[in-house]
Amino acid sequence: MPGGRSVDQEKLNQFLGKFVGDLGACAHGATVLLGERLGLYKAMADGKEMSAAELAHQTGTHERNILEWLSAQAVSGYVSYNDKTGRFFLSAEQAFTLADDTSPAYLPGAFQLISSVWKDEPRIVEAFRSGKGLGWDARHTDLFAGTDKFFRPGYVANLVSAWLPALDGVVDKLTRGASVADIGCGQGSSTLLMAQAYPNSRFVGYDYHEGSIIAARAAAKKAGLSARVEFNVGTAQAYPGTDFDLVAFFDCLHDMGDPAAAAKHVHRSLKADGTWMVVEPFAGESLSENMNPVSRVFYSASTMICVPASLAQEGALGLGAQTSEKKLRELATGAGFGKFRRATETHFNRVFEARP
Ligand SMILES: C[S@@+](CC[C@H](N)C(=O)[O-])C[C@H]1O[C@@H](n2cnc3c(N)ncnc32)[C@H](O)[C@@H]1O
Repeated sequence: MPGGRSVDQEKLNQFLGKFVGDLGACAHGATVLLGERLGLYKAMADGKEMSAAELAHQTGTHERNILEWLSAQAVSGYVSYNDKTGRFFLSAEQAFTLADDTSPAYLPGAFQLISSVWKDEPRIVEAFRSGKGLGWDARHTDLFAGTDKFFRPGYVANLVSAWLPALDGVVDKLTRGASVADIGCGQGSSTLLMAQAYPNSRFVGYDYHEGSIIAARAAAKKAGLSARVEFNVGTAQAYPGTDFDLVAFFDCLHDMGDPAAAAKHVHRSLKADGTWMVVEPFAGESLSENMNPVSRVFYSASTMICVPASLAQEGALGLGAQTSEKKLRELATGAGFGKFRRATETHFNRVFEARP
């Protein structure tokens, strides 16, 4: 061993076991994308047992490839296998999470999101060397589509039923008719879900990435909401409009180069009794508190996406996806907000309420 250090065989074996699990997960992620793109999970949604030949026939794919895919899914626990019949099926839970893209727990978008960081990895290496970052707007398109697909189910499950009701007086205002801005709105799923739930209110979404705004406009049109929902290119530090009742930031404050300037701008754009809702990834107050599987996902994504995104913008603060509540409170109070509290949370998100 270099430096004469001795290796504990048991600890080494433990680490190698962990490595094999991680390598399997990385290899498996790409097969989930195949399952989604080729409609393989959907074709198995009813839970009936299928052979590789039947699945290949139904999806217009090649049987030998499908048998290998089904075997990989069975070993990973993403498809069930009946070893008496040699046929495959989706359990109710597998179908709920893999075959139904309207489900509040639809998972394949996560792998599409993460696939983008492998595609961008050579540019991230450069960004680490230069310190100049890599903008969200400069990423592979799988980041934009994957983020929307992965985050939307969480918003379907929580936004209208739990997060908005956790904010002081906001649901009453939305029901009567309020003016709402969704900043860093991406492809607009959060904006459209709120608009669907509150027909008397008006909504505008801003994002600095033009491609996402074009996709959001198309989604609004498809949902028949274009009359009450507008999507425009704009930055969090300078979007137009004043007297908003609610300004929402879904999972984007930490991606910004100058979140303090954004917070000050939100303060200026709100009514005196308005609300700033800030949804951020779940995190503890320190690295030691974050030694868990959820934070592992967030720190890795933040290394590859969020910190480079922030460093590419003016301000280059690089908050990261695991910013403590203490730091977020300082940002809000520094921008003039008198009240700041954690209104609610899930295993993946913290929902903060700031009031002028
Ligand atoms: C993680 S994505 C979240 C998108 C969306 N809010 C959602 O939850 O699906 C972060 C978003 O923030 C946007 N963004 C980053 N910095 C921004 C800025 N300074 N002004 C406006 N939008 C920004 C990005 O373009 C991206 O769409």
